[in-house]
Amino acid sequence: MGVSNFEQRDLENILTTATVTPHVNQLLVHAGNTPSELLAYCETKDILVEAYSPIAHGAILDNPDIKTMAAKYGVSVPQPCIRYTLQLGTVSLPKTASPAHMCANAEVGFTISSADMDALRNPQAQDYGEHSVFPVYSGK
Ligand SMILES: NC(=O)c1ccc[n+]([C@@H]2O[C@H](COP(=O)([O-])OP(=O)(O)OC[C@H]3O[C@@H](n4cnc5c(N)ncnc54)[C@H](OP(=O)(O)O)[C@@H]3O)[C@@H](O)[C@H]2O)c1
Repeated sequence: MGVSNFEQRDLENILTTATVTPHVNQLLVHAGNTPSELLAYCETKDILVEAYSPIAHGAILDNPDIKTMAAKYGVSVPQPCIRYTLQLGTVSLPKTASPAHMCANAEVGFTISSADMDALRNPQAQDYGEHSVFPVYSGK
């Protein structure tokens, strides 16, 4: 069974009442939006987190911090974004309509240093532009 956007209180509720433990919780996880406590809670309950929108719906592509980091690792901007979510222990769910992007998005065998992982938790403030209307991006 999988769930989506379940907070800890939702999981606690379902764990006390349901007969089947959710195996998967889909959460919005990307550089700049890391629900660390919830990720840790899911880990203690053996609930796999699937990180949706790891590239922040594409809005992160112009982030200067991440551009600099991508250049440092010699990769394109989406790659450290995807790798970041993998190193958090999640399954990353990037979406693309481009076969070339899909191939690039699978090339994430490099390792992000722990200092850079920390930097990716809180990159420079982002403007989600037209995507700010989506609740997940506006914080509403
Ligand atoms: N459970 C939930 O509540 C929930 C909510 C939202 C989303 N999701 C799921 O999560 C997945 C991803 O969501 P998302 O579309 O919001 O965000 P995303 O994967 O963070 O971003 C997708 C955007 O990034 C671009 N992109 C991807 N790879 C790229 C690359 N290598 N270079 C340049 N641009 C690249 C795509 O454009 P191109 O097509 O041009 O590559 C697209 O505009 C979807 O499968 C969606 O169904 C689940």
